[in-house]
Amino acid sequence: MAITESAPNPDVSAVPLPAWLQRDANGRLHADGHDLNDLADAWGTPLYVYSRAAIEATLQRFQAALAGRRATICYALKANSNLAIIDLMGRMGCGYDIVSGGELARVLAAGGDASKVVFSGVGKSADEIREALEQGVRCFNVESRAELERLDEVAGRLGRKAPVSLRVNPDVDAATHPYISTGLRENKFGIAHDMALASYRQAAAAPHLEVVGIDCHIGSQITDVAPFLAALDRLLGLVDQLAAEGIRLHHIDLGGGLGIRYGAENPPDPQHLMDALFDRIDAWSGGNPPEVLFEFGRALVGNAGILLTRTEYLKQNGDRHFAIVDASMTELIRPALYQGWHRIEAVNRRNEPLQRYDVVGPVCESSDWLGRDRPLAIAAGDLLAILSAGAYGAVMSSNYNTRPRPAEVLIEADGVRLIRERESIASLFALEKRLG
Ligand code: LLP
Repeated sequence: MAITESAPNPDVSAVPLPAWLQRDANGRLHADGHDLNDLADAWGTPLYVYSRAAIEATLQRFQAALAGRRATICYALKANSNLAIIDLMGRMGCGYDIVSGGELARVLAAGGDASKVVFSGVGKSADEIREALEQGVRCFNVESRAELERLDEVAGRLGRKAPVSLRVNPDVDAATHPYISTGLRENKFGIAHDMALASYRQAAAAPHLEVVGIDCHIGSQITDVAPFLAALDRLLGLVDQLAAEGIRLHHIDLGGGLGIRYGAENPPDPQHLMDALFDRIDAWSGGNPPEVLFEFGRALVGNAGILLTRTEYLKQNGDRHFAIVDASMTELIRPALYQGWHRIEAVNRRNEPLQRYDVVGPVCESSDWLGRDRPLAIAAGDLLAILSAGAYGAVMSSNYNTRPRPAEVLIEADGVRLIRERESIASLFALEKRLG
């Protein structure tokens, strides 16, 4: 299987920076007009910096591509579940895709409406199901026949009917990194395509379930339209078979997974993707399509965030040069986990020759690297911006090596808003106890 994210150092010299990141006349990198040197001074490093304007502009492109359609974007919280980001998505009209009781609590804490929540995930506990039923989520995306049984039982105990959609595994190769590919038969996700009909019959016959939809999610960081169309075709075929048995669905949920440009990738733009999908849907439905849901995460926030870090030391081992910075795999694990490539820019331009550095963190693991073999002109103390850290950055951070999680700031039109305080060291062991 192709591993699209591990391509070593794509040539990005011709690729423009995202619009919200611009250099001034002195070569200093600004975020929505704010000098990143000032942000680092004010809030310290490492620091996650997000642009509200960039998130809004991106979401608006999706909404424009869906204008006039019966379609809803359910923001996949897992990409970035800061309350301010959830709040922003909700205000802009999104629903929510969640995968845990914790994420449901975040939606509610951010002022979101449970009736706009689809609840995905392969291992929902009975407690999570009960809570989601009590809050009145829109739909459970069910991933196994055993889960159907549990859902029916819990709903029965509460005297309710649980709205269900079955996550069908369409056995489509999304041609992405194996760790983030989910739509193949060998993955743990979804109900196998050839078991889908039997599972729907089970759901339709269950006294406390109400069949409302069908869904799939084939993987993440997909940069081609073809896998989405292949999955859609598989789903539409099933919808027809279900209709023939009298099982009618109100919505089709096509999952998330649209990729972004980290380096030289060229993912389809929202209009292109939606035109391709709705051409099929319109032709199939004969003018009366069901509502279509999407669960995008990365595509909405990924390129609207950076991780700002300061160089602690430069050093040389043999013929390799290292820039040791104050961020690490604990703030951005994508390079260590998926060989993910993130563009790295020096915040201040130096008119000195470029040197190729491995950009690494202070964590005691050889896998603790953020970028390899990167041409940079830097000195100790210089700031670096690690791009495309708006999705799967902060949410996947950890406290390994007793490292406090960084602060997160959101740049808004009228200033910079602190949306998560830097953790204190004392808080990291506040729940622990010494010997009695
Ligand atoms: N819906 C479901 C059921 C999912 O499993 C996912 C992602 C999404 C929606 C959102 O996918 P997106 O639009 O963000 O691609 N940590 C990995 C990505 C894991 C994605 C897991 N599922 C990474 O950093 O690349």
